[in-house]
Amino acid sequence: MTIKRIGVIGAGLMGSGIAQVASQSGFEVHLMDVEERFIQKGIATIEKNLKRMVDKSVITSADAQDIRGRITTCLTLADLVKDADMTIEAVIENLDLKKRVYSELDSLAAPEVIFASNTSALSITEMAGATNRQDKFIGMHFFNPVPVMKLVEVIRGYGTSDETVAITKEVANKMNKTAIEVLEAPGFVVNRILVPMITEAIFVLQEGLATAAEIDEGMKLGANHPMGPLALADLVGLDTMLHVQQHLYEEFGDPKYRPPGLLKKMVRAGRLGRKSGKGFYDYT
Ligand code: 3HC
Repeated sequence: MTIKRIGVIGAGLMGSGIAQVASQSGFEVHLMDVEERFIQKGIATIEKNLKRMVDKSVITSADAQDIRGRITTCLTLADLVKDADMTIEAVIENLDLKKRVYSELDSLAAPEVIFASNTSALSITEMAGATNRQDKFIGMHFFNPVPVMKLVEVIRGYGTSDETVAITKEVANKMNKTAIEVLEAPGFVVNRILVPMITEAIFVLQEGLATAAEIDEGMKLGANHPMGPLALADLVGLDTMLHVQQHLYEEFGDPKYRPPGLLKKMVRAGRLGRKSGKGFYDYT
């Protein structure tokens, strides 16, 4: 089966990035969100990224027009699945919400359509359980910022077929990403390793051992990370960070995964990182 048309569910930070790279790779993209303002925000991000690429002569303005032209938008799942060969879901990390989306999507999509979820950590098998196509259900985990980061984790749920894995890897490669195949487990591979490191940085800050800037400088210069862990948390979104931490903690039942009180407090205060203007740093 050759994938030509991809439906992306959710036009937020990840969904808009996925729509952009999919279109850049020649796929026809249908981008869906529940409100027009979310779609407009996602499209504005894509247009800003394309303009930056044109300004840097990475692509021509004709290329940018073609890329933008391959992306259409819609407000319902019914519209999304018309003609789609595959869907990639990037809605917020709420398992019940995702299961509701999948149950509806399953009733609307043709049986051969592959469902991929960009979840950061949640169970692919549990989401697949809300559908009658567990063999065609897979994790496709992109990294932020999607247009820049080269990795996609391709996550095999309990019932995912070899054919679905092969097709998904092919799609990731066509998007110019490197795919690693991962068996389902909480946090998969990268977040299982990365998130506890970021959590520890937040504990170090919470304990007053160093300032946010010093912690980040330490990891940039002492471990050669491209950005410090607290700046990275701000980039990913502190609500997303907390979701992943809580999920790892619940699934493993191991206190080493417990979320820091400081992070919970910041999320409760609406300090979500770059997307809200303030996190560990001020972006206003
Ligand atoms: N969208 C598109 N392009 C972007 C971008 C964005 N949001 N941010 C940066 N870029 C591009 C720039 O245009 C530039 O392109 P060029 O090389 O063609 O000029 C390139 O990326 C480098 O950008 P900058 O020079 O502005 O800045 P840096 O060199 O500091 O790079 C960074 C920025 C790529 C974000 C780098 O700091 C980095 O790699 N940080 C770590 C990111 C990371 O670890 N991500 C994973 C997060 S975990 C995750 O996503 C999983 C989830 O489930 C939680």
